[in-house]
Amino acid sequence: MVAQSRKTLATFEIIEPVSTQSMKAITKYRYGGPEVLQLKDIEKPELKEGDLLIRVMANSANPADWHIMRGEPVLARFAFGLLKPKVEVLGCDFAGVVDAVGDGVTGFRAGDRVFGETLRTGAFAEFTAVPAKACAKMPDELEFIQMACIPIAGVTALQALITHGKLEKGQSVLINGSSGGVGHFAVQIAKAYGAKVTGVCSSRNRDFVQSLGADEVIAYDEQNIHQYSGKHDLVLDTHGNLTFQDYLRMGRQGVSIGFTSMGHMLRTQLRAGFSKYSLTQFTAEANTRDLETLAALVLEGKVIPHIEKTYTASEIPQAIAYIEAMRTRGKVAMLWEEEVEK
Ligand SMILES: NC(=O)c1ccc[n+]([C@@H]2O[C@H](COP(=O)([O-])OP(=O)(O)OC[C@H]3O[C@@H](n4cnc5c(N)ncnc54)[C@H](OP(=O)(O)O)[C@@H]3O)[C@@H](O)[C@H]2O)c1
Repeated sequence: MVAQSRKTLATFEIIEPVSTQSMKAITKYRYGGPEVLQLKDIEKPELKEGDLLIRVMANSANPADWHIMRGEPVLARFAFGLLKPKVEVLGCDFAGVVDAVGDGVTGFRAGDRVFGETLRTGAFAEFTAVPAKACAKMPDELEFIQMACIPIAGVTALQALITHGKLEKGQSVLINGSSGGVGHFAVQIAKAYGAKVTGVCSSRNRDFVQSLGADEVIAYDEQNIHQYSGKHDLVLDTHGNLTFQDYLRMGRQGVSIGFTSMGHMLRTQLRAGFSKYSLTQFTAEANTRDLETLAALVLEGKVIPHIEKTYTASEIPQAIAYIEAMRTRGKVAMLWEEEVEK
């Protein structure tokens, strides 16, 4: 799944923008490892109808970034660009300040502090232009770096548990892969909604997952999860290695968002498709309402984004190289301005 050999990463020099119409961005013109990423001066994105132009203060990294960077799985190139990437700039998650508001947008104005997600234009840049419907305002008390960690991972966790999993107060959920970006939000969101949580992670993350509120933790390197016999109202697999038999045995219904291989995913979905068992697989999409729900949970202290590492903008290739190992504890964040406070 992840290429083992890595070329040495180039060091980047941040060059001042050459005009007010240009900006610095992490760009990619071919598929490959982090060595294809270049910090360059390019044109600022165009503000279209329904968009916000946002001055980016912070980003976070997601597996989607390296899938898009590498063009993997290869079938995804039908969406990312067949021979070379369609989108010049990498990145999805951001938090920043609205610079300009496109025609038809209501509820936002220049100067608003916002966070959100883009799969269209790329977010690892000084500016990004994003549909307003994939953004929400940030409460004043919260910081850009915290909120940049929320969009993909937080929204995926919320939609997996509540929108698709229909998890209710008093029910139990098993979360396979409970220490990563999606998993650590899922544990906290499930607890905030009053569920009983069993987290599955490596033994090195046992204390971390317990500290997030999990009632029970199973270390997959000490106990074979494929033989675990507990039964839960819901099984959420953020890692993507559970088999159809695992779902049947451990959960009354299942939600799958993780990806280990195309073969495993197709086998599991085919088995579910020929049964009456409810196994949902979906691609999460940020919307203002879900982002606001997550911001409220952060404000109440019920969800705390855990930031394992922080990089500067020029170190984004190193950040992506780090998360490719898929062993992130919580999130990896990047700051465009080191001295940014809020
Ligand atoms: N469908 C969607 O819309 C959607 C959205 C977001 C993400 N995703 C996918 O969801 C997956 C997780 O994303 P993420 O952002 O949470 O990634 P991440 O931050 O890299 O976390 C990956 C986690 O997987 C855990 N893990 C590794 N091996 C494991 C195993 N054998 N059993 C159980 N857990 C294991 C790791 O925990 P330990 O270090 O403790 O092993 C790590 O915390 C990725 O495949 C991503 O592409 C899908």
